[in-house]
Amino acid sequence: MKKTIVVGITGCVGAFKSVQLVSDLVKKDFDVEVIMTQNATQFIAPLQFESLTHHRVMSDTFDRQHSYSTQHISIAQKADLFIVVPATANFIAKAVHGICDDMLTTTFLACDCPKLIAPAMNTKMYTNPVTQDNLRLCEKYGYDIISPVSGHLACGDTGIGKLAALDQLMDAIEEGLVKEKPLNGKKVLINAGPTREKIDPVRFLSNHSSGKMGYSLAKAARNLGAEVTLVSGPTQLKAPRNIDVIHIESAEEMFQEMTKRYKEADMIICAAAVADYTPEHTSNQKIKKQENDLSLTLKKTQDILKYLGEHKTHQVLCGFAMETENEIENGRQKLLSKNCDLLVVNSLNKAGAGFQYDTNIATLLTKDEQINYDIMSKDELAYHILSKLEVLYAARH
Ligand code: CTP
Repeated sequence: MKKTIVVGITGCVGAFKSVQLVSDLVKKDFDVEVIMTQNATQFIAPLQFESLTHHRVMSDTFDRQHSYSTQHISIAQKADLFIVVPATANFIAKAVHGICDDMLTTTFLACDCPKLIAPAMNTKMYTNPVTQDNLRLCEKYGYDIISPVSGHLACGDTGIGKLAALDQLMDAIEEGLVKEKPLNGKKVLINAGPTREKIDPVRFLSNHSSGKMGYSLAKAARNLGAEVTLVSGPTQLKAPRNIDVIHIESAEEMFQEMTKRYKEADMIICAAAVADYTPEHTSNQKIKKQENDLSLTLKKTQDILKYLGEHKTHQVLCGFAMETENEIENGRQKLLSKNCDLLVVNSLNKAGAGFQYDTNIATLLTKDEQINYDIMSKDELAYHILSKLEVLYAARH
């Protein structure tokens, strides 16, 4: 059954972003109900949302044309998540003091599902101690705040108060929707993305890794309740919320950051495409073009996964193998030689798997099991990997 997301919209210039958010949620197959304040309808016509959601937008508590009169209760009952985006200072003040004077505040109070609030307002309104006190009250009542960002505001000021970016809103929704938290209390250390090995100040050696699989794993582990640290090479991806992201460039830096942290971790996942070789010398100056060909001498980097396999104690360790031939045999070889508990094999030969794609086709290998998965999103695969790691962890402890 489809999950229901209630999107509350208040009167603020940032309301235009909620059109895209609602559209994205509908594309992700959520049932979306929109509730607008009267002021919000001055910024955007309700018809816009009705065309996207195929539901009537609610804004008037006493609308006699509705099929039932206690609409705020029936919407509250079917809501899996409630997000108010953008949320004005006025809405936040009313929400934390139980004031119900319109359809939005009434339904918000009647809901007991996870509630998210994405504030957007002028900097002085946002930093005003009254608003800050109200935001603290939001936390007390368990409402998750999606913090605004700094930028140019509609009023002409520059400062904090701009509505969070769409991907941050979607990330928070995905986090809020996962109710079961089996990884509560667990620490998960993940690496992701490519590394860059410097040749000179303008050139480097790297690979095509997008970091998507590692980021999907980090978000899924967080959604399941884990405390997540993500050591990331350079990617185009935004740092997910509620995750400690450490940015590195080279294989050596990744080695340092991972080995500094692995002892406290319960689960370690090495999804990064770490360079196997790095230039023996990095030139301080740009290497100038010469008459003849140029040779670079490369030296081997440390194998992080292998090091962790040799030094792990209580942790369960998951590695990846990116293969172009003999996938399973090579994967099994890596599982054993790097002393992993789980190895995820993906083939570069299959359409829809590997670098840059949002999907993957993977085989999970343990010492005595092989699980083949059909094509699926990296987000979905991340949950399968974590659920296998959970079983392996439980068996060990
Ligand atoms: N890995 C690592 N450190 C390295 C190289 C690889 O930690 N210096 C990890 C990767 O993060 C991955 C696993 O080892 O989890 C396998 O990486 P892969 O590139 O498939 O294999 P390699 O061991 O590098 O061997 P080859 O390139 O010969 O296949």
